Amino acid sequence: MSRPLSDGAPGVAPAPGPADAILSVRDLSAEYVMERGTVLAVDRVSFEVGPGEFLGIVGESGCGKSTLLFAIAGLLTPPAVVSGGSVQFRGRSMVGLTDRELAAVRWKDLSVVMQSAMNALNPVKSIGAQFADALRAHGAASKEHIAGRSAEVLRMVGIDPVHLQSYPHQLSGGMRQRSMIAMALLFTPELVIMDEPTSALDVVAQRSLMVQIKELQQQLGFAVIFVTHDMSLVSHFSDRLLVMYAGQVAESGPTRRVFDTPLHPYTAGLMEAFPSIRGPRVPLTGIPGSPPNLARLPEGCRFADRCPQVMPRCLAGPPELYEVDGTLVRCFLHEEAARHD
Ligand SMILES: Nc1ncnc2c1ncn2[C@@H]1O[C@H](COP(=O)(O)OP(=O)(O)OP(=O)(O)O)[C@@H](O)[C@H]1O
Ligand code: SF4
Ligand SMILES: [Mg+2]
Repeated sequence: MSRPLSDGAPGVAPAPGPADAILSVRDLSAEYVMERGTVLAVDRVSFEVGPGEFLGIVGESGCGKSTLLFAIAGLLTPPAVVSGGSVQFRGRSMVGLTDRELAAVRWKDLSVVMQSAMNALNPVKSIGAQFADALRAHGAASKEHIAGRSAEVLRMVGIDPVHLQSYPHQLSGGMRQRSMIAMALLFTPELVIMDEPTSALDVVAQRSLMVQIKELQQQLGFAVIFVTHDMSLVSHFSDRLLVMYAGQVAESGPTRRVFDTPLHPYTAGLMEAFPSIRGPRVPLTGIPGSPPNLARLPEGCRFADRCPQVMPRCLAGPPELYEVDGTLVRCFLHEEAARHD
């Protein structure tokens, strides 16, 4: 099949994905509108997630991962706005929902585990009280049901239910993140969006939480969008990978394929240089330099000044997203393959 995907153009072909998608993101753009200029943090991103699928989204710090997740979940607040595209969750638009409409979907059908569990949890309420609020907001009235379900989800993530009485500051970073995951599972939603949920943990704890998330996903059947800056973390757990660079999709495809034959030079660089487990702001040794300023993007390929395979044409204009063997890559090196595919 031969179709260069000129993103944003009318009649654009959909990105490859499951036919029965529960989430469909099309040409989604989001920006931070500030006095000193506009930052295009998410630039025409498209992908789909099928029921029970595990999608990993990877990319360096500042490439727009969190902004993308917030845009999908309808949680962007000024100065951030969705500036284009659409998000359909189970056939319903997530863009421009009122707080009330959003509250009806959140937790029940779709839940989000934020990057910083410390900020996401209310510091002046016990874990149990926060779980109870979420359950009551969706009609759970009986005290017995609330207590029972709250204890059950905490157990699922390996925390003793005695901690329902605890306040966030009384828990370790890892326990706070586990509590957020437990809260996300209160209603067994169809989609759980996780933004670096293991980043506060050491390597061993990170792996064990990852295994637990995967087990819960298989047991309960929900789909996952898992964001991380660490390719190695999602290598064993995700069905598909989406690699972001400077607000755009650089490459996406089945995880195994991306690992076996990375098509984009950035993906190849990421694989040679798994960043430090401890923090997202460690420079990648395999890829010298840093991503471009999203407020002043270059005319050509956004990766050009770091790319070991840069060609003169890469500086003249931006590459499109090409489809090669059913996967997507934004790089001129694959233009021919896309044409003859
Ligand atoms: N509150 C803000 N105000 C203005 N610009 C912002 C704000 N938050 C993020 N940005 C811009 O949006 C870009 C994307 O930020 P985002 O937080 O989505 O990246 P990220 O990939 O999640 O990074 P990290 O891995 O560090 O979490 C940043 O590079 C920055 O330029
Ligand atoms: S388009 Fe050119 S600069 Fe960009 S990733 Fe491909 S080869 Fe490198
Ligand atoms: Mg982030």
